[in-house]
Amino acid sequence: MHADLLIHNIGQLITVAGGPAMRRGAGPLRGVGPLRGPLMRQLGIVEQAAVIIRDGAILAAGPQAKLVDAVDATSTLDAGGRCVLPGFVDPHTHLPWAGHRAHEFDLRIGGATYMEIMAAGGGIVRTVADTRAASLEQLTRETAERAARMLAHGTTTAEAKTGYGLNVADELKQLRAIAALQREGPLDLAPTFLGAHAVPAEYRGRTDAYVDLVVEEMLPAAWAEWQVLKADFPPRWPIFCDVFCEDGAFDLAQSERILQAARTVGFRLKLHVDEFAPLGGTPLAVRLGATSVDHIVTTPAEHVTLLAGSDTIGVALPGTPFGLAHRDYTPARSLIDQGGAVALATDLNPGTCWCENMQFMIALACRYMKLVPAEAIVAATINAAHAIGLGDRVGSIEGGKQADLIVLDADDYRMLGYRFGTNQVRTVVK
Ligand code: NIG
Ligand code: FE
Repeated sequence: MHADLLIHNIGQLITVAGGPAMRRGAGPLRGVGPLRGPLMRQLGIVEQAAVIIRDGAILAAGPQAKLVDAVDATSTLDAGGRCVLPGFVDPHTHLPWAGHRAHEFDLRIGGATYMEIMAAGGGIVRTVADTRAASLEQLTRETAERAARMLAHGTTTAEAKTGYGLNVADELKQLRAIAALQREGPLDLAPTFLGAHAVPAEYRGRTDAYVDLVVEEMLPAAWAEWQVLKADFPPRWPIFCDVFCEDGAFDLAQSERILQAARTVGFRLKLHVDEFAPLGGTPLAVRLGATSVDHIVTTPAEHVTLLAGSDTIGVALPGTPFGLAHRDYTPARSLIDQGGAVALATDLNPGTCWCENMQFMIALACRYMKLVPAEAIVAATINAAHAIGLGDRVGSIEGGKQADLIVLDADDYRMLGYRFGTNQVRTVVK
C-alpha cells in the first residue's frame, strides 16, 4: 500500500478512538459522539505503534508490526519511542483582535475587578476600539502571530469568535480575518459570530436597542457573509452563534432572543454562561440544544446535573480563573462523575486569558478541576472536536480522520499535566 508519510517507532500512540453515541445508553456506535463520564479515561493506547497517512488523511493506525511491512511510504518520521497523540482542538477562542490591554493588568493586580474595568470603559470595549481602528490586513497579521503560536504548541484546529467589532462592518471584518487565516492555513478555524459579546459604547444603557441591531442586521449580515466565505473552508463546515450571558452584558431573555434568531437563520449555538454571575444560562443552552455551554464556573449544582444528562458539552476554560487570579474553577469533576462530557479550551483573549497553549490548560485542569491527565487529554482532543461540530473529522487518530497529530517530547502521555510552563510538543503533523 502506498502512503505519503509513515510515522513509526511510536512508544505510546494515544488514539482517543471510538466515541459512543451522543446519548448515554444509546449503544456503542463508533465515533459519533464525545466521550462521557468514565469513558473520558479511555485513551485507546497502542504501544509500539505506527500511523500511515495519505492525502492528508489517516489511512491506518495501530501496532507497528502489523502495519510497517505492508506500506511503501514517500517519507517516514521516526518518533523515537515517544508519545504521539491527536493535535489539540481548542474549542473556545476570541482569536481575531487588535492591540493589547497590558495597562489593565496593573489595575487588576491592584484589586479592580474584571467587571469594574469593563464598566469604566475598559475591558472588552477597549479592544473593540483597537479592533475597529485596525485594517483587515493589520487585524489578520496580528491574529496570524497568535495562530502560529497555537500551532507550535500543538493546536491543529481552533474555534475563533468575532465579538470585538460590535457593529455590522467590523464584525464582518473579523469574520473575513478568520477566513483569510483559514486560507493561509495550516491551522483549521471554526468561526463563531459573537456580536453579543458586549454592549458597545454608542449603545451604552440601551442594551435592548443593541439586541435589536444584532437580531435584525448583524445576524443576517453575518450569515450572508458566511455564504461567501465558506468557500475558503472544507465542505459542510459549521458556523456558530454565541452570546455572553452575564451581568453587565446580556441577560437571559436577551440571550434567548439572539440565540433563537440565530438558530432560525442557520447557526449552530454556543453560550458563555456563569463566568461570574449565575444567571441560569445552562438550562437555556440545554433547552435550545446548544452544541456547547462554556465557562460554567458559578453554575448551581442542579444545573450541573441537568447538563450532565444532556447532549450539550460543557467547555471548561481554566486559563480564565487562573488569568484573573480567581479561586473558583468549573466543577468539571462533578460533571464527569455524573456522566457528562467535558471539553477544555484556552478562551484565548486579550482580557482574561492571553494564552495560546492547550498544554497549560491540561496542567490547570488536573490541578484545579481534579481531572486525571487521560480525562484532560480527551477533553482537549475528541470532546473539544465535538464541541465545535467537527468530531467526525478531527480529534482522534483513526482511519479516515484528518492527519493532525503531535509528537511529544516524552514517552509517557502523563508528562502532559505533570510538567508545565514549557512546550512539550516536538513535532506537529498537519
Ligand atoms: O471569555 N467573557 C467574555 N469574553 C472573554 C473576555 C474577553 C475580553 O476580556 O476581551 C472571556 O473571558
Ligand atoms: Fe470566552
